[in-house]
Amino acid sequence: MQRKILVTSALPYANGSIHLGHLVEYIQTDIWVRFQKMRGHECHYVCADDAHGTPIMLRAQNEGIQPEQLIADVKQEHMADFADFAIGFDNYHSTHSDENRELASQIYLANRDAGNIESRTISQAYDPEKEMFLPDRFIRGECPKCGAADQYGDNCEACGATYDPTELKNPVSAVSGATPITKESEHFFFKLGNFEDMLRDWTLGGHLQTEVTRKLQEWFDSGLQDWDISRDAPYFGFEIPDAPGKFFYVWMDAPIGYLASFKNYCQRTGVDFDAFMKADSDAEMVHFIGKDIIYFHALFWPAMLKGAGFRLPNNIYAHGFLTVDGKKMSKSRGTFIKARSYLDHLNPEYLRYYFAAKLGNGIDDIDLNLQDFQSRINADLVGKVVNIASRCAGFINKRFDGQLADSLAEPALWQSFVEQAETIAQRYEQREFGQAMRDIMALADKANQYIDEQKPWVLAKEEGKEAEVQAICSMGLNLFRVLVGYLKPVLPRTAELAEAFLNISSLQWSDITNPLLNHKIDTFKPLMTRIEPEKITAILEASKATMTDNSPSTDTVPANSDFDPIADEIQYDDFAKIDLRIAKIVNAEHVEGADKLLQLTLDIGLGQRQVFAGIKSAYAPEDLIGKLTVMVANLAPRKMRFGLSEGMVLAAGPGGKDLFILNPDEGAKPGMRVK
Ligand code: MSP
Ligand code: ZN
Repeated sequence: MQRKILVTSALPYANGSIHLGHLVEYIQTDIWVRFQKMRGHECHYVCADDAHGTPIMLRAQNEGIQPEQLIADVKQEHMADFADFAIGFDNYHSTHSDENRELASQIYLANRDAGNIESRTISQAYDPEKEMFLPDRFIRGECPKCGAADQYGDNCEACGATYDPTELKNPVSAVSGATPITKESEHFFFKLGNFEDMLRDWTLGGHLQTEVTRKLQEWFDSGLQDWDISRDAPYFGFEIPDAPGKFFYVWMDAPIGYLASFKNYCQRTGVDFDAFMKADSDAEMVHFIGKDIIYFHALFWPAMLKGAGFRLPNNIYAHGFLTVDGKKMSKSRGTFIKARSYLDHLNPEYLRYYFAAKLGNGIDDIDLNLQDFQSRINADLVGKVVNIASRCAGFINKRFDGQLADSLAEPALWQSFVEQAETIAQRYEQREFGQAMRDIMALADKANQYIDEQKPWVLAKEEGKEAEVQAICSMGLNLFRVLVGYLKPVLPRTAELAEAFLNISSLQWSDITNPLLNHKIDTFKPLMTRIEPEKITAILEASKATMTDNSPSTDTVPANSDFDPIADEIQYDDFAKIDLRIAKIVNAEHVEGADKLLQLTLDIGLGQRQVFAGIKSAYAPEDLIGKLTVMVANLAPRKMRFGLSEGMVLAAGPGGKDLFILNPDEGAKPGMRVK
């Protein structure tokens, strides 16, 4: 029976790059989706950028661009990363879209009219300088328990305590440095408690993993709280209907973004949105998420859908977090690896295979052990799977003009391969990818063993053994083809290359069990190469280097003061490309609407330049005027909201008050080149 399945992965925030941790989720989902499609089911995989919220608003301000510009740029970057990792979204949208605005307002209004929304006045931390309410993570101060300095508004990284932002000692706003005051404001609350009975039933209905069900039980026992779904202006998001100046909290319209992306896709392709979303739909809806966002997906989301008359999810599949070499990903160790840094050096299919080999259907964390990664790819993919083809294809190509034998040399061996098709399919279906990979590699071992025993390279030198050589190599290639079929959800690109050289059309699951007889193959081309250890070192180095990037600050919270590691080695020619000049600051002034920037007018002998420098936290304009400093004079100009920035001045230090611009020694003149 053909199933209809709508599948989603969590929507990544539009204020940062995709990293290998994210990819655990997108790769896991993509494998499952590719498997369903190979089985012939109607499966639609949608995702989007999660574009709203305070961090995105502030980052755009810091960069001097509109949030719409920021999220458009980030979306391009995300889509390129996903495409290069062969994540086959059928649609990639944005929560800042017309479809989402309409659906969010529809779902909100339905819930409001059903009595699931309530408003009341609450007090909150407020930045009087920046004139905005402060989310907890934008308040810093001393921990009320241990006194550690510079801690977040809701928890202490030094002692692990959690507390209310009002308890923090000497709090400051991370946005402006001002001391927050407490201010009242009206907020809208979603009454989760109205759904308790429904949620308790649903939780026990087989939609969730057992660990997740247990967690939910604890949450029920501690009581379901009303959920604050509104935020005050200034906020980047959707204004709430009939409530000027009030916006939907980012997490209110984020999951609705799944539906918005799907709707956008349906409009494009003619798929029937209502048939999938109506309360009694026979289509499945499946969400893959990380374990950190279970509360939003397993409680708020079904309740919101129910309150608005939509269907509920069939399944929510949570996964654990990625560690690298047994530790949390770390910028200073170079293990906070962006998708792009990986792609610059290695084949994405290696990581897809490694994650598959590590993934089960539980919520345990998974570790990327770099040594193990390298040896497993080399041993399994290159040493076992690809090796079968490279050992057999040459003989078939050279001696038999690409022609495969017309019968199978070892029917029993063939049988033992194809009879696993349903078992392996069930492993995929159950998201037991690690077990599937082990089953498949056991078969690869058997295929290699067969070739080792038959030794076609020995027979090839003997008279009159042609038919035998052809039979053995044809058998080997048939076994290889079965393995390619089984691995195709994990290795779509390699499968495509293999399909091309085997001269077959795109493999579906049901094709796997039919042998290729009396068939002409194309010339074999190497499918995959070994991982050299230098590649991994290069990725780690590149990941350390991205930390030292001091382009206009993207980090709204001051970084800690650890020194950046030394960047990748460069050649003199690379250095010589940078034209550094002595510059005289002839004018410096504040920029209306910018929190971090000063506008500098620099005299570099050959004329004047205007530069927006992110040094406002450390310098008053009047202290700068008349000083000499050093600027990058040949940096491509950058269009900012406030005007054109024609270069960059150099400064050292972690940020905030600790920023130090450079001064040349006595005697240097504006325009002199620094070399
Ligand atoms: N924007 C929200 C999700 C909204 S869904 C309606 C969000 N974004 S995120 O960018 O922080 O994370 C996106 C997904 O990646 C989440 O499912 C999250 O759990 C997952 N991961 C982010 N870092 C991860 C690891 N280090 N390891 C594994 N998964 C991780 O949450
Ligand atoms: Zn503490």
